[in-house]
Amino acid sequence: MGEESRRQLRRMFVIGVIVSALGIALALIIDWFPVAASGQAKPIDTLWDVLLIVSVPIFVLSQTFVLFAAWQFRMKPGEELKDGPPIHGNTRLEIIWTAIPAIILVGLCTYAFVVLQDIEKAEANTMEVRVVGEQFTWNFYYRDGGEEIVSPQLYLPENRPVRFTVQSKDVIHDFWVPAFRMKIDAVPGIDTHIRVTPERRGEYPVVCAELCGLGHSAMRQSAHVVTQAEFDSEMQRLRDQAAGGGEEEGGGGGGEPADGKTLFTESAQPTACSSCHTLADAGSTGTTGPNLDEVLPDLSEEQIKQSIEEPDAEITPGFQAGLMPRYGDTLSAEQVDALVQYLREVSGK
Ligand code: CUA
Repeated sequence: MGEESRRQLRRMFVIGVIVSALGIALALIIDWFPVAASGQAKPIDTLWDVLLIVSVPIFVLSQTFVLFAAWQFRMKPGEELKDGPPIHGNTRLEIIWTAIPAIILVGLCTYAFVVLQDIEKAEANTMEVRVVGEQFTWNFYYRDGGEEIVSPQLYLPENRPVRFTVQSKDVIHDFWVPAFRMKIDAVPGIDTHIRVTPERRGEYPVVCAELCGLGHSAMRQSAHVVTQAEFDSEMQRLRDQAAGGGEEEGGGGGGEPADGKTLFTESAQPTACSSCHTLADAGSTGTTGPNLDEVLPDLSEEQIKQSIEEPDAEITPGFQAGLMPRYGDTLSAEQVDALVQYLREVSGK
């Protein structure tokens, strides 16, 4: 190797080291993920950082080499017919560039495998939650003695390990809470599982991460990580609601009647109609479903009720069946009435 080549190699090496250092610094400064709310999040975030630190220099090395070679060995005028020197390979170089990536890959795979084993470890005192996806909503089922209680929002007590059993009623969805860093497909006909230990109180988005139809982007709910006491009272509320609904069918009263506007607008509600429908009174501008300012004045009380309970019975022209969940299945009769009443009021009836 001549003095000139050695000088070029040294220069390439120095450039590579500087660019790698800048690249790693930039990669670590970028805030890639939302807040970490589970015990699983920390090892995953560390794994991510390690992968970045290892991959940035490899990317820089290959790119610097390609750019440098293209520039250094470009064809100059008068060299159009010149052929390169005949080379028969370099065994030592080929062994090195096969062995080094192989060692790096095996090392990273081992590390990732250890992290996976660690975050999927079964823990004592694990709570079971069944998650069921359907076009286009999630429902969360808790075991309560022999019964199951259903909630349209995910409530989890802080620091209690949870094992989710994820299912789907129709097509493939994907249950994902970015703040927990865990996601898994909801596949019709089979049960999939993930484990999470929520470690930070707060409200975090639950999203669907598999394109599942026109309402896919609206398939968003909330995961509430709360204290054990708050969790217990939420379970009690759901239990009362379930019992109240049953009583009412028998002709009795029961439960607090929900406010129709709250049901319509708030994302914490099982409905959050405002994410899909435009309604001036609620300040909503959704376009997934019909504009209610336009269609409501023409609907009777019965028709409004039917549109909530069984939306596919009659579809507004220009819209598609199967987009809106049948809220008759998940809302109590009182909640439906509150919504109907609210919608009639704002449409001026
Ligand atoms: Cu369900 Cu996307």
